[in-house]
Amino acid sequence: MPRYAYVNGRFTRHGDAAVHIEDRGYQFADGVYEVIPVHTGELVDEGPHMDRLERSLSELSIPMPLSRRALSLVAAELMRRNALTNGFIYMQITRGVAPRDHKFPKKPTKPALTMTTRQLPQPEATFERGGFSVVSVPDIRWKRRDIKSISLLPNILAKQKAAEAGCEEAWQVDEDGFVTEGSATNAWIVTKDGKVVTRRSDAGILGGITRLSLLKVMRVEGIELEIRPFSLEEAHEAREAFLTSSTNYVTPITRIDGKPVGNGHPGILTMKLRKAYIDHVVHGKAGAERFEVEAT
Ligand code: PDD
Repeated sequence: MPRYAYVNGRFTRHGDAAVHIEDRGYQFADGVYEVIPVHTGELVDEGPHMDRLERSLSELSIPMPLSRRALSLVAAELMRRNALTNGFIYMQITRGVAPRDHKFPKKPTKPALTMTTRQLPQPEATFERGGFSVVSVPDIRWKRRDIKSISLLPNILAKQKAAEAGCEEAWQVDEDGFVTEGSATNAWIVTKDGKVVTRRSDAGILGGITRLSLLKVMRVEGIELEIRPFSLEEAHEAREAFLTSSTNYVTPITRIDGKPVGNGHPGILTMKLRKAYIDHVVHGKAGAERFEVEAT
């Protein structure tokens, strides 16, 4: 069965899909993206992902290429054509095509929109009991990490370091010794007295949609939370650690820099949160609504 991509108004064979050589995304990484998880043929948390997409675009003064409704329809059609059941839809929007010049083009360009899909096994089906290992790396990124920019070089270098260390993820650490986030995931620990800790969502990290939904789930479940930064040392001493992202849901971390977290097994509270997240959000019991925890 052919696989399709969407490029600027057309559904094309994935292998033939291409953008203009002077697309500002290609030349300057002048654009943003979204990864929206798909579970049993349904988008998970579509509303919050679209909110974040609109916000990222507006921070860069790139107009929406289509209305939200039209974006949704294109996504649905691409999923249908690709018979996507589980995995994600990738949306990328750049400022468009213009002769190479750093400043915004004088004559406003038409933003370029591309979409692809990726079929993956369901995370709940593939999760291995061992948990992930992470390695710490210095956070060398810019100061607007809240924008889901396609400029991902530091994240790529961090993830490569992780791979070379035999780890699944890298935790980035700022100049003050605090963990900001993973290369493509948000970072969490559980303290010795059972409190879940994650740093606040500001310009220092990407405001993860999985993070946002998990905060809501935690409220529903009455789980104690501290929104504050935690240091790498504190993470090494933590009882549990985990990460969140659209493609990993809530995944336990069992080793940090080669040292076991707690007893070296996925944490009990982490696994409870993972299950609660899957029940409430992935299986759609709480997914679509806008969460009032947005500001945390
Ligand atoms: N990454 N932090 C960073 C730097 C990320 O790139 C991501 C997502 C997250 C988690 O956000 P969310 O829960 O909305 O997926 C945090 C996506 C999956 C990616 O780049 O592939």
